[in-house]
Formats: sequence, C-alpha cells, structure tokens
Amino acid sequence: MTPPTVSSSSRSIRVRLAGDAADRSYTVVIGSGVLGGLGAAIHSRPTDSVNASRAIIVADSAVLVSHAAAAEASLQAAGIDTQTLTVLAGESAKSVTEAARLWSELAHLAADRHTHIVAVGGGVVGDLTGFVAATFARGLPFWQVPTTLMAQVDSAVGGKTGINLDAGKNLVGAFWQPLGVVADVNTLATLPEREFKSGLAEVVKYGMILDAQFFGWLETNAHSVMARDPAAILYVVERSVALKADVVERDEHERSGLRAVLNYGHTFAHAFETTAGYGVLLHGEAVAIGMACAARLAMELGHIGADIVARQDRLLESLGLPLRAPCLRHTPAEKLLAVMARDKKAVAGRLNFVLPERLGHVGLVGGIDPSLVCRVLMQSLLSDCPA
Ligand code: NAD
Ligand code: GLY
Repeated sequence: MTPPTVSSSSRSIRVRLAGDAADRSYTVVIGSGVLGGLGAAIHSRPTDSVNASRAIIVADSAVLVSHAAAAEASLQAAGIDTQTLTVLAGESAKSVTEAARLWSELAHLAADRHTHIVAVGGGVVGDLTGFVAATFARGLPFWQVPTTLMAQVDSAVGGKTGINLDAGKNLVGAFWQPLGVVADVNTLATLPEREFKSGLAEVVKYGMILDAQFFGWLETNAHSVMARDPAAILYVVERSVALKADVVERDEHERSGLRAVLNYGHTFAHAFETTAGYGVLLHGEAVAIGMACAARLAMELGHIGADIVARQDRLLESLGLPLRAPCLRHTPAEKLLAVMARDKKAVAGRLNFVLPERLGHVGLVGGIDPSLVCRVLMQSLLSDCPA
C-alpha cells in the first residue's frame, strides 16, 4: 500500500458527530504550513453567532517562542486580540495544581464564553488546556494546535481532556470537543527524537486495532517514517486521524465499547506511567510496552499466534520503541495490578482488556484470571520476553 499522491500540502478530515451533537462536528486540518490559517479557522466558527475577537493561547516553554508565536501571529493578523499563558513542560503539568493555576489566570483575564482557548503543544498541553476550557465558566470554546506527533495522530482529536492524580493517569477529566484542530506537520521539525518515537506507538496501535494494511505499510516504510520523510509523515498523520475520527464519530463518549479499542495497550501503559512516576516513561513508550504485554496476554489466551506478537515486536523495535521497562524491574506485578483495577475500563475493580484477535482487529475481553496477567507482567517486565 503506497500513500496517496501528495497533490497539495494540506488535507481536511471532518469529525462528524452524530445526532444532537452534529453542530459540534469539526474539521482537522493537516498539512505543511497550515498554522498560518489558524486565525481564519477560528473566524469560521462563531460562538452563538458572536464572531471571535479574543483568544488565549496556552503553551509550554518548548513551543512558546516558536510555534505559539506563529499561532499568535496568525490570530493577530486575523484581528483577534491574543494573550498567552504558559504551563510547565512535561507530564507533571497534567495536575490539579496547574489546572487550578490556569483557572485563576483565566479569571484574572476575565475570560468569558466567547474567549477562544487555544492549546499549542503536545498531548499534555492539549489535555490540560482542554480540561480547563471544559470546566471554566462551564465551558469555553477550545482549539487544538498539536505540535507533537502524539498530539497530531491522537490526543488533539476526539475530545478527551483531563489531568492525572497520584492514584492514576487521566482519572479526572471531561469530554470536550475542540471547535477545530490545526495540525501543521512543519512543527514536528523541532520535536526531539525520543518524543517523535513516542508518538509512533499510537500509530502502530491504529494498525493493530483497525487497519492491517496500514500496519503492513508501516512495516515496509519504517525507514522513511524514522527519517521523517515529509510525504510519509503526512500520510501517517492523515491515516491515523481518519481512523480515529471514524471511531469517535461512532462512539464519542466511549459508551458502546467501540471507542475502547483506542485504549489497546493502555491499561498496562497507564499503570506503568503511574507506578514509574509521571514522566519517567513517555506515554508512547509505556503504550509500546503495554501493547507488547497485551499481545502476549492474547497469545496466552489462544486469541492470536506467536507470529502476530513477533510482527508487532519487530515493528515497534524498528520504530525505536521499547518492549520492556527496566525502570519497573523491581516493581511487584501485584502492585501494577492494583493500579490497573482503577483503570476507567474496569468495572467494580474487575479488569477488562483490549486484546488483538487478528492483525487489524481487537476485542474487549473481561474475566481474565489476574494470575495470568501477573505472569505476563513478570515475563514482560522482569526478563526477556519470550514470544
Ligand atoms: P508532551 O505534551 O509532554 O510533549 C512532549 C515534549 O515535547 C514536551 O516537553 C513538550 O514541551 C515538547 N514539545 C512539544 N511540541 C514540540 C515541538 N514541536 N518541538 C519541540 N518540543 C516540543 O507529550 P505528548 O507525547 O505530546 O503527549 C502525551 C500526553 O498526551 C499524555 O499525557 C497522554 O496521556 C496524552 N494523550 C491523550 C490522548 C487523548 O485522547 N486525549 C491521546 C493520547 C495521549
Ligand atoms: N486515546 C484514546 C481515545 O481518545 O479514546
């Protein structure tokens, strides 16, 4: 499978929400240089017939003088009065403390329901800012300008926002869809290698859960992806967003079980991130190790063969992602299981896992013997992973 010929430098993917939510549908613009169109995009979405005249950008120090400044220039060129708030860089910013500080700053700036809040940055800035936008004054118009691969392929789309507690990742949050997403692939040029690879874990996830052909394309084109070939990156972002949009459209609030497929590897991953300490493992690294565990669990249950586990391992490794977490080597598996019991897919503390059934297809599986999960964790974290 080859990527479609790149005939122009931008694509638009519509997230068409259903029924009563149709008026909350929005467009994800993906391309090279599209950040300059942010102001025009915001003007295209008046709130309660009031044209945008004011915006507050939220960004962290890594993007402040580069991509946040470019966003600000676009807004100002469109006649939108703009102020900028900064947050800490990294996972520790998804905290009650940072959320409370932003709420206070918005109050101080007298933000109102026609003030557009624009998150410029990675998944951390997007999740935190989206949560603050969802909750301040019972909801402010919100925009996502993702500048990491993780945010462009996943977190900026779909409306999940939130912060972490010591007890677990993303335990406090809200569904709050953006009015639009502007994903400029040029912003990825400044992204450090480790962060770039972290985003690729979610890309592999889409192949495993929804699209065997895309998985095959990634296997064949891993080298171009790692070299950040512009056409390959554009295709990776576009295909990932299209796959995610399709799921979100059909199960916006994760009620039917469909959207849960996007959490493949995440029950393990969230427990790894919480237990290791937020920021020790990057989210994508934890997801890669979590998918390695989930695939092995599926194999132990007889759902898939060793060949699929091996293909997933090989692809993750070729994209520079880990299969094991040396930092958790001395963590008792029971401790991880206790954190997993607080996962949002758990019901009354009983674990549900998204597990592969074949390449490109997963199912939600409950009633798994915790001792089997413990065994997989011990094999995966503490020793070589026998496939
Ligand atoms: P991140 O937001 O911490 O960004 C990674 C690092 O890169 C940060 O230090 C940031 O300052 C820096 N950075 C951002 N853009 C840059 C750029 N263009 N150039 C240079 N540096 C840049 O991490 P992330 O991987 O983007 O996001 C991880 C978070 O996203 C996790 O909290 C995860 O739970 C969340 N997430 C949410 C969803 C969702 O659906 N809401 C989906 C996936 C992940
Ligand atoms: N990243 C999982 C979801 O958006 O549902």
